[in-house]
Amino acid sequence: MDTLTVQELRERYQRFFEVRGHRPIPSASLLPENDASVLFTTAGMHPLAPYLLGETHPLGNRLVDVQRCIRTGDIDEVGDPSHLTFFEMLGNWSLGDYFKRESLAWSYEFLTQELHLDPAQLAVTVFAGDADAPRDDESAQIWLSLGIPAERIHFLPKEDNWWGPVGNAGPCGPDSEIFFDTGRPDHPGCRPGCGCGKWLEIWNNVFMAYRKTAQGDLVKLSHANVDTGMGLERTIAVINGFDDVYRIDTLAPLIAQLESLTGYAYAEPQHTRPFRIVVDHIRAATFAIADGALPGNVEAGYIVRRLIRRAIRYGYDLGIRQPFCAQMAKTVVQLLDDAYPILGQRRVVIANELTCEETRFKATLERGLHEYRKLIERVRRVGTPMISGESAFDLYETFGFPLPLTLELAREDGLRVDENRFEALLIEHKETSRRGAAQKFKGGLQDQSEQTTRLHTATHLLHTALRQVLGASVRQMGSNITPERLRFDFSYPEALSDAQLREVERLVNEEIMRDDAISYTVMPPAQAIESGALAFFGAKYGDMVKVYSIGAFSREVCGGPHATRTGELGRLTIIKQEAVGQGVRRIRAVIGV
Ligand code: ALA
Repeated sequence: MDTLTVQELRERYQRFFEVRGHRPIPSASLLPENDASVLFTTAGMHPLAPYLLGETHPLGNRLVDVQRCIRTGDIDEVGDPSHLTFFEMLGNWSLGDYFKRESLAWSYEFLTQELHLDPAQLAVTVFAGDADAPRDDESAQIWLSLGIPAERIHFLPKEDNWWGPVGNAGPCGPDSEIFFDTGRPDHPGCRPGCGCGKWLEIWNNVFMAYRKTAQGDLVKLSHANVDTGMGLERTIAVINGFDDVYRIDTLAPLIAQLESLTGYAYAEPQHTRPFRIVVDHIRAATFAIADGALPGNVEAGYIVRRLIRRAIRYGYDLGIRQPFCAQMAKTVVQLLDDAYPILGQRRVVIANELTCEETRFKATLERGLHEYRKLIERVRRVGTPMISGESAFDLYETFGFPLPLTLELAREDGLRVDENRFEALLIEHKETSRRGAAQKFKGGLQDQSEQTTRLHTATHLLHTALRQVLGASVRQMGSNITPERLRFDFSYPEALSDAQLREVERLVNEEIMRDDAISYTVMPPAQAIESGALAFFGAKYGDMVKVYSIGAFSREVCGGPHATRTGELGRLTIIKQEAVGQGVRRIRAVIGV
């Protein structure tokens, strides 16, 4: 086994695949550019989705990268030895080039020859097959030929061995995952994928030969891709013989910093979990802010706020009373700036946002303390020995006051707290917010002021006008609206001429002058598409969708909201066009001028 740093692993990985014909590409932002289906980039494949679906990549059909990712799906697992919300994903890509044999053989070679992992500690899983796709005997055969014995090749169903799409539609396929045996004791029924911690997933090879449509159908892609993802932190931990990712060189200094801030030892069992949560969350928040997700109340900003507040809360539980987030973020910047220069460039914003959020949250905590004292007076007057679940939940929900603090204070006051009831209320609340978020996601408009609503309507007009001028192959690739302007991304291979731009503008303004009414009907997505309504390719659709009609000019699947008549918009002016990638153009426009 080797001793390796994170940077050395990044370099070795990249070199290994460069020698095998792969071109390196930079990490994309954590904030997906042209895709409303997820809040953060959750995997290396995400920014590459258009190429996996058949667009030509300017660098060819073999790529290698290290992609920064945030996954908050298993935020509750953070605190164990291997889960992180922010992590780096090493990936090698075949865009319709090599397939299973090369992909698996290279993975195996890299792990055993380059990194010198013991083959006896590896096990793999392959897709067991179902009505959608056959059992992956081919991958199993390849693994056998590489030297993995049959008893360490597991056939598992879709829940384990199928990857994607991200959101409801997009590229996907069966995968083969590589696990490392951490040496923890076996138990009956334990196998790779078991949550007990014996098997650590380190690498996933996805054979992306399919595309799931917005209607839920699985379509075979004309060319089959390979998307791989190796967890950098886990792999470096394994190589160095650590049973804990927080001991690697990009995380251990943060643990040490927290030890000196709290005066506690990380190794003390009661402190290990809160230490990991604080370190992970500050690291994730630092990166998210660097990429432009500032703490706020909606979408990505809300997740960032939640990460910061959780870190502060756990810090508070660890006895930290002075501001500490910006200080720790500074260490994150030092540790990772070489690989992600955006951190250094945004260091001032990172520090300011964290300090601001921390100050705000501290005020919340103090207000909560005040409310807690009032509550205790009431409880004492009534003379019960118990704080009700409702009261504890109210402190938490209305005043942001963490339950562990309520528990701690109640203990000091000789009272108990109805934790079961609190938990029941929390679960109920989470379910309601989840439904609310899912609902909001369908719309995708961040701010529903009148001006953004009008700009949203203008986007539909622009989409139709572009198709009338440039042809029906134009399709929406992304949209971003602020109260000042709209930004619309669409597929088209070259710059538009001035005459084309003027014609697009003219068509839109003609429709605005007609002052047509805007209305919608609700129908299943398949019927909407059949009826000729335009749909944003990357969007998530539920069972029923709204189809907005703007006079006879435009019909489009959309969550709304929209203006009621086109005349409300005022004149549209295109202010800029630019390229945003191979085959994708961007237009910015304003209205009401
Ligand atoms: N996209 C695959 C994953 O994230 C490689 O596991």
